[in-house]
Amino acid sequence: MSTVQAAPKSSQPSNNLGYQTFSIGQFKFQRDEYFAHILYPGNRHIMKVDSFLRALMRDVGWGFFYGTVNFDNVFGTVNHYGTVEMFVGLFNEAYRKTNRHYVETFQSADLRKTFEAMLDDWTNQGFDPYAAPDETGTVFGVKHGSNTKALKRERMVAKRMVGLPGDLGYRTDENGYPVNRQFTDVPQDKPEIHAEPGFEGQVHAFNMLGYVSRSDVTWNPSVVSCVKDSQFCATTEEEALPITHGNDRVEWFIQATDEIIWDVDDGKTGRPRAKVTMKAGDVAAMPADIRHKGYSPKRSILIVWENNDDRLPQMYAKGELPPYPVEF
Ligand code: PHB
Ligand code: FE
Repeated sequence: MSTVQAAPKSSQPSNNLGYQTFSIGQFKFQRDEYFAHILYPGNRHIMKVDSFLRALMRDVGWGFFYGTVNFDNVFGTVNHYGTVEMFVGLFNEAYRKTNRHYVETFQSADLRKTFEAMLDDWTNQGFDPYAAPDETGTVFGVKHGSNTKALKRERMVAKRMVGLPGDLGYRTDENGYPVNRQFTDVPQDKPEIHAEPGFEGQVHAFNMLGYVSRSDVTWNPSVVSCVKDSQFCATTEEEALPITHGNDRVEWFIQATDEIIWDVDDGKTGRPRAKVTMKAGDVAAMPADIRHKGYSPKRSILIVWENNDDRLPQMYAKGELPPYPVEF
């Protein structure tokens, strides 16, 4: 494995479809009307371009996330928080057994630049990789326009809590966040706050379900409250999580409304481990040694509870902590 620091390269439109070809290290990315082609020494990998761009959007938007972002069961990235590995077949048992896997390490900033440029060039007008499939146009065909504004959405991160002075504001009709078509039954009232005398100004509450029902994106957790390393990330889910997340620490899920079905597989091999159906009110912990992909038949609200302590990946990798958070 080598560390490549070269600046990202892109060429002029590489074919008469109008899309640029991108390369970094020994990887080369090409798109046509339907597919993304990932070329690497020895072979190529192919993905449908809509699936590829939805996964790429998450990888870019989340700064390579916690642990592994599997675009599918072959291609993805591993975050080492400063550097990032880009791989083919690294966590695929068949590729590993036959020594067909391929990995390169990049400075995170370099790979990010290439990914951002590719996402922007390959996204056509009307396609929003964060939107539910029923709320976006398609991305197929020859290059036509772009959608840079949708790609540059900032991930909403509360410093302490939504609605506190100087922190993230509320979402309203007026500022462009109407209630989603599938959440018209979510109450929009405000909580009453009755602080003990002397504690006025120190107690805060907001209608989190109301706030989340106005999200215009799917599968994009936004931090709604944060205490030290404890991050409460609320998100609206519809159709399928565009990546399969390989954990490098435990994370908790709280299903706030409706239902999500999770496929849980071994993180290294991809061997199936469990099917978890979470209904409103269910709580589950995803262990540190698995990968998971969720399916939400109807738009639902999920709270992902993350531990941002940067010592954790090492402790799990060395076996200093069991991969699960509780023993019964
Ligand atoms: C996850 O990988 O844990 C995850 C990512 C995005 C979501 C929900 C869960 O919206
Ligand atoms: Fe996850």
